[in-house]
Amino acid sequence: MNDNRQGRIFEKRVFPPPADFAARANVRDRSLYEEADRDRIAFWESWARKLHWEEPWHTPLVWENPFAQWFVGGKLNACYNCVDRHVEAGLGDKTAFISEGEPGDVRHFTYQQVQDEVSRIANGLKSLGVGKGDRVCLYLPMVAELPMAMLACARIGAIHSVVFGGFAAESLHERINDAGAKVLLTADGGWRKGHVVELKRIADEALELGCPTIEKVVVLDRITPGITATADHPRDYDPGVWTEGRDLSWAEVVKTQSTECPCVPMDAEDPLFILYTSGSTGHPKGIVHSTGGYLTQAAMTAYTVFDLKPEDVFWCTADCGWITGHSYVTYGPMANAATQVLYEGAPDSPGRDRFWEIIEKHSVTILYTAPTTIRTFMKWGDELVQSHDLSSLRLLGSVGEPINPEAWMWYRDLVGGGRCPVVDTYWQTETGAVVVSPLPGLSATKPGSATQPMPGMAVGIFAEDGRDITPYPGSSPGEVTGLLGISEPWPSMLRGIWGDPERYKATYWGRLEGTYFAGDGAMVDEDGCFWLLGRVDDVIIVAGHNISSMEVESALVDHVSVAEAAVIGRAHEVKGQAISAFVLLRAGYDAADSDQLVALLKEHVAHKIGPIARPEEVFVCADLPKTRSGKIMRRLLRDIAEGRALGDTTTLADRAVVFSLQHQYESTEG
Ligand code: WT7
Repeated sequence: MNDNRQGRIFEKRVFPPPADFAARANVRDRSLYEEADRDRIAFWESWARKLHWEEPWHTPLVWENPFAQWFVGGKLNACYNCVDRHVEAGLGDKTAFISEGEPGDVRHFTYQQVQDEVSRIANGLKSLGVGKGDRVCLYLPMVAELPMAMLACARIGAIHSVVFGGFAAESLHERINDAGAKVLLTADGGWRKGHVVELKRIADEALELGCPTIEKVVVLDRITPGITATADHPRDYDPGVWTEGRDLSWAEVVKTQSTECPCVPMDAEDPLFILYTSGSTGHPKGIVHSTGGYLTQAAMTAYTVFDLKPEDVFWCTADCGWITGHSYVTYGPMANAATQVLYEGAPDSPGRDRFWEIIEKHSVTILYTAPTTIRTFMKWGDELVQSHDLSSLRLLGSVGEPINPEAWMWYRDLVGGGRCPVVDTYWQTETGAVVVSPLPGLSATKPGSATQPMPGMAVGIFAEDGRDITPYPGSSPGEVTGLLGISEPWPSMLRGIWGDPERYKATYWGRLEGTYFAGDGAMVDEDGCFWLLGRVDDVIIVAGHNISSMEVESALVDHVSVAEAAVIGRAHEVKGQAISAFVLLRAGYDAADSDQLVALLKEHVAHKIGPIARPEEVFVCADLPKTRSGKIMRRLLRDIAEGRALGDTTTLADRAVVFSLQHQYESTEG
């Protein structure tokens, strides 16, 4: 065993799939893996064939490393496959969306209604001169019009670029210009925590910064109609300034359009969308996804990982502003004719049991959410979960960051009542679809492990020098730790960075020769299970020992008093780096007795991982700096701990958090 592996806390508990779940699961035996191992390309072709193609492909894969083309020569339309195909098969009356607004307004859309509305939006876009290959920017709240607008773009071959409604004007401005968007679809606002996020006003601000390619702005009236203002949700907001000639209301562009709008057959390799993701440098990367390969793998993974059945009510809590909302709201579930819940607002509005209330009200059967959300619920206490009937749930999913065993167990026991399998799904904006995950009817799960690569995915572990050190199946070299890479192309892989092929090559294919490097470290245990260790730049080297920040965080959260923890390495004269921990206490623990608690927590980590991992300091704080997608920005914590001026803070959800933290840190230090 490797030196720096000593004392790591990895869960040993194993949970086989419940027998009744396994008996009915979409995937019940290993033949899927065997098929993929025998002939990966034929395997993906068999999944592509489940879609409707206007013209078949002549070549399944053209691979000129690092540029892949899948299903070459094939023609299909993504919207047709997600909507019209189901209506034609007699599912027109099936519910597609249950769209719940934060104020409590609920709208149901059948597949027929989605087809009609998507066609109207598509005709509206055409009336503004939008056609195949044009970019359309979507800056909308998480209401049904958002996925429908995405599908409308797909219908006419326009490329959508969704910008999350939580982003500020500067970010929107940068993304509009990078993509060269012709039309912006936005709304007067969206509801979040009882307030209106003033999307139109922010969009005005973005456009004032200069967006020369934007010709028209279409504004959905989300706040005004139908919803009565309440004490919870007062309707006082700034609707922005109406610019005649540029701004058009959704009603005038969409409502009067015909519901007849043909789906444009697209080449398999035509871009379906661009989605921006933050890079390690300041400038965001426009990740480009294809039509045929992306849809094939989004559909395949939705079916196998989420075990989607006709009677399910699926709820992915991600906003369509993220890849999760692309692959597991708009495309994957829709390609499987799923019924899904969309929720516009915050988990604590009006009460901290809003999620549980939604699950109970709509009889949600599959829940897919993020570890940060799960830990927040843990902090809010078990009673809120226990006061609702969650017996409709049959499967739970997690995504976004490594899930600590403590949160995994809480999710399984409290939310899933001990009967639902938990699928921890590892993937990225760039991969388009789930890469490492249990299949819920088949895989034995371990709390904190994403278990095994999906069938058809050539995932491996690589040494720093690029050597492939993936343990062979059946060999038992013990634990192997290194960089997670993907050595063969897959259908939903990114096709590039919009307008920047050099950056694409350098970012993803520059580190491991000929292999895609995901940026994450991983360990494979003696059973072949993968444990994600976080981004490689989150690794702390203390006195020559390699410690992942995630592992220390996991140990801290394992303590009863800790709700959430962020761990960083800061410069240290003797050790090279010292461990600094920032913790949020659970309800019932008082920051006033923190001296004693801090000593206890240091001891706890030392006990769990080893003295080498004992944090130099543990800092009890009121909140942690997070991005709008809920990722802790450890870079800023490093800046604070090393007494530097703060780096770029524009992607933070709430900048005040980091400034007050810095202030608090300095006053304690001094
Ligand atoms: C990064 C990608 C994929 C949708 C949401 C995030 C981390 C994601 C897991 C997981 C451990 C995970 C990785 C990855 N990540 N899921 N289940 N276990 N880490 O998309 O913003 O592109 O972020 O999120 O570090 O590289 P993204």
